[in-house]
Amino acid sequence: MLKGILQYAHHLLEESVAKGETVVDATCGNGNDTLFLSEVVGEKGHVLAFDIQEQAIAVTQEAITKEGKTNISLIHDSHANIKTYLSNEAELGGAIFNLGYLPRSDKSVITKPNSTIKAMDNILSLLKKGKLLILVVYHGHEGGKKEKQAILKHVAELKQNEYSVLRYGFINQKNNPPFIIAIQKKQ
Ligand SMILES: C[S@@+](CC[C@H](N)C(=O)[O-])C[C@H]1O[C@@H](n2cnc3c(N)ncnc32)[C@H](O)[C@@H]1O
Repeated sequence: MLKGILQYAHHLLEESVAKGETVVDATCGNGNDTLFLSEVVGEKGHVLAFDIQEQAIAVTQEAITKEGKTNISLIHDSHANIKTYLSNEAELGGAIFNLGYLPRSDKSVITKPNSTIKAMDNILSLLKKGKLLILVVYHGHEGGKKEKQAILKHVAELKQNEYSVLRYGFINQKNNPPFIIAIQKKQ
């Protein structure tokens, strides 16, 4: 039956990612997606997890230590600088962004259109054919509408012969519900 937003995002990641692959959590926050991806890629895989916020890095590091994970590189930097951490020959099995602010934290630290789009484009260039880049778009906060509009414009302009772009969301929910953008690189 219909999957909720986070459930569907994880389902898509499971469809995209194979054991042993390198993947990206572009906004690790409290580390939920980071730990999920760590399981999906397995011990021989590698998760690169980014966040600009000290608190997010600390919480995620604690979760990594608690779970004894050894396949995660936690990076305290903007996802816009991803090319600093991956070679041009790197091949990604999938990636996820959760846009917006860290729940129960400073609402002024939010993802922003320019850096999000730069990171998306860099990740798309390194994504293996057939694989997925997932965005969970939260847009109810201040600044969220601007980012949503910029992203929708950008992904709608991706070339049809290179990418398939899906929007998934519930249209009868109140208070600006989040939605998913899933971008599949064509074979
Ligand atoms: C919605 S939260 C992520 C939630 C996370 N996926 C989880 O499972 O808890 C968004 C995160 O993006 C981070 N962020 C904002 N701008 C960023 C940037 N340019 N690069 C990396 N992270 C960024 C924020 O600090 C915040 O922790």
